[in-house]
Amino acid sequence: KFEEQQILLGGIKDYMQEIRRCRRLLFIACGTSYHSAIATRQLLEELTELPVMVDLASDFLDRSTPVFRDDVCFFISQSGETADTLLALRYCKQHGALIVGVTNTVGSTICRESHCGVHINAGPEIGVASTKAYTSQFISLVMFGLMMSEDRISKQARRREIIEGLKQLPDQIKEVLEMDDQINALARELYQQDSFLVMGRGYNYATCLEGALKIKELTYMHSEGILAGELKHGPLALIDKKMPVMMIVTRDPVFRKCWNALEQVKARKGDPIVICTKGDTETIEKASTALQVPPCVDALQGILTVIPLQLLSMHIATLKGCDVDCPRNLAKSVTVE
Ligand code: F6R
Repeated sequence: KFEEQQILLGGIKDYMQEIRRCRRLLFIACGTSYHSAIATRQLLEELTELPVMVDLASDFLDRSTPVFRDDVCFFISQSGETADTLLALRYCKQHGALIVGVTNTVGSTICRESHCGVHINAGPEIGVASTKAYTSQFISLVMFGLMMSEDRISKQARRREIIEGLKQLPDQIKEVLEMDDQINALARELYQQDSFLVMGRGYNYATCLEGALKIKELTYMHSEGILAGELKHGPLALIDKKMPVMMIVTRDPVFRKCWNALEQVKARKGDPIVICTKGDTETIEKASTALQVPPCVDALQGILTVIPLQLLSMHIATLKGCDVDCPRNLAKSVTVE
């Protein structure tokens, strides 16, 4: 309920006491679902003040990661059937942790084997590449953070800001979708390239990983999501005037650091396309192409910045004659290890 600043996730409400008492939160998933946990980790750390671990299911199992009875383990899966995620779930259950499923498929195996959970209710996702499930997983995890911080006086102002931000998101998403023509034109400039780098940091790092995954999945183009803070530790060597780069430089706490990265890329003759905050003339003037997203609360920015990349990958794929709904070599449900 927006007016009462009340957030209720029915599937976990009876377990909230137990979850609030836990020592650590673990978020385990594959692919896009993993990115939704990366996207919300910072906010969950802030709102819960608990250690938050985010892991890829396959790697989590390879490491035989220590899990304890006072851990709460979240398994995020659109299909609810992903083998690696399911095996990690069973492993954590054996170690006595509380299991929370975050799925889009009611009655799926992950749903059934969890102690409690959240249905993200994104509706059936037909295309192999996950899009609306990603944004819905993101919002569900934000809502979980809001529930966890409900009783904390010190978090009330931040909670109000985020709840207000959630209220504005539907209109802002519509506004971003209206950029489709501009993004299609950009796709025409890019579709014959071999490579595409996506850089950003802070709340937008997940958008870089997820955007690059969408590009490679749909267009078969090499694409990498790069944490801008890591630029000078290697990736800067890739930059020259021919390398296509997108940089996410929104008005948030890491804005100046991103700007610094933008200048580093420009100094190597790079000509990055930027995703920036609407009306930010300082950044717009720096780039030959700027995709402007409406200003919104920092922790929710990732919802708005990922959409241009989802659209871009679709347009590039269409121009290249690739099957947007069924990319080669991939399946919607990955039921093998
Ligand atoms: C990417 C994509 C995959 C899935 C991954 C996990 O677009 O769809 O990376 O996200 O295979 O699938 P779920 O979420 O069903 O566990």
